Amino acid sequence: MKLLLENIKELVQVEDQPVLFRAGKEMAKVNILKNAFLIIRDELIEDFGTMDQLKDRYFDDDLLIEIDCSNRLVYPSFCDSHTHLVYAAPREKEFVDRIKGLSYEEIARRGGGILNSAKLLHETSEDELYESAMERVLEIVKMGTGAVEIKSGYGLNTEDELKMLRVIQRIKRTSPICVRANFLGAHAIPLEYKNNPAEYVDIIINEMIPQVAAEELADFIDVFCDRGFFSVEDTERILMAGLKYGLRPKIHANELGLTGGIQAGVKYNALSVDHLEYVGEEEIAALKDSETMPTVLPGAAFFLNMKLSPVREMIEAGLPVALASDFNPGSSPSGNMSLISAMGCINFKMLPEEVINATTLNTAYAMGISESYGSIARGKIANLFITSEVPGIEYLPYAYGSNLVETVIINGEVQNF
Ligand code: NIG
Ligand code: FE
Repeated sequence: MKLLLENIKELVQVEDQPVLFRAGKEMAKVNILKNAFLIIRDELIEDFGTMDQLKDRYFDDDLLIEIDCSNRLVYPSFCDSHTHLVYAAPREKEFVDRIKGLSYEEIARRGGGILNSAKLLHETSEDELYESAMERVLEIVKMGTGAVEIKSGYGLNTEDELKMLRVIQRIKRTSPICVRANFLGAHAIPLEYKNNPAEYVDIIINEMIPQVAAEELADFIDVFCDRGFFSVEDTERILMAGLKYGLRPKIHANELGLTGGIQAGVKYNALSVDHLEYVGEEEIAALKDSETMPTVLPGAAFFLNMKLSPVREMIEAGLPVALASDFNPGSSPSGNMSLISAMGCINFKMLPEEVINATTLNTAYAMGISESYGSIARGKIANLFITSEVPGIEYLPYAYGSNLVETVIINGEVQNF
């Protein structure tokens, strides 16, 4: 089946010669075709061009659906490369505790936070977890996300970590969008191992990783390498064990301090290091010329009122930057990538063009899928969205909080919600 999008006011993030990501000054460049058409055949982008190049040859097919995109923009779907969207229940009581003055770390020390989510997940069936997570997946699809990474990490014992990863596998099989699974057994130290974290690390290495690999339940491996969570030494042991099974790291690093997490990630060729509130010259030097995507999570920084990652410094140093939602019940209970884009501009002083690269192509790279997703290029998967009537690309982050995603196309099919 063929789909023709015509009279597109602006076709955004078009690539004739696709690149895997954009870094430094290049991040401010987004190719835009004005008054454009786009042809989709089955699940792939077949062709695009300006309306005056649209020839009769495209009308010889019998099954051709036409969509008029007058006054509308067409974007590649957002790729959200960092989420924890499988969870048993929200944690709005901790939100109130923080309003009253408790810190995120203090709540964690008292057994709340991630440990609270682990307790709730233990009591919840696989089916219930699947149902609630699928609701969240559909919610983000409606908001323009076309690929998502989902982490485990609310199990914190072998059985429950595997349960979570099986739920993620089921989402992978049944959801319309591209899903990547990340094993995050090292998300928090369970209370019973508080005085001996190395013992929990041994369980991750000797029990969890081999089983996760045997059942092929994960694409990546993650560690929350930070103050009060996992040390650099623990992190390196876990990453080494994961690499033996072909699990490439994508880790949480430098959210709470200059902990050496970024350097550890780069050393083990992590696909991404995420959070990055604390980044200094040494961290920038480590990231330079690495294959690791620096990924910032504006939703968590906003929700926890954290120090902001030095995004401008990183871009000015020539690094790429990706922006993801961190959708999770504790530090970022939203997967709205339009809102993340607005935060990128407002809080991190990124240009609208930089934000587009950071939420599409660079996040696709951070999930290992930028050869097939993250831009409008011939042969890539046709995951995209059509906006409502808007003046131009600046308007989307400017009109923060408005839902301007009007029509969603996934695998070449218009989604009916
Ligand atoms: O990315 N920083 C560590 N983990 C999550 C928070 C998870 C939670 O609080 O439930 C994050 O922010
Ligand atoms: Fe996270």
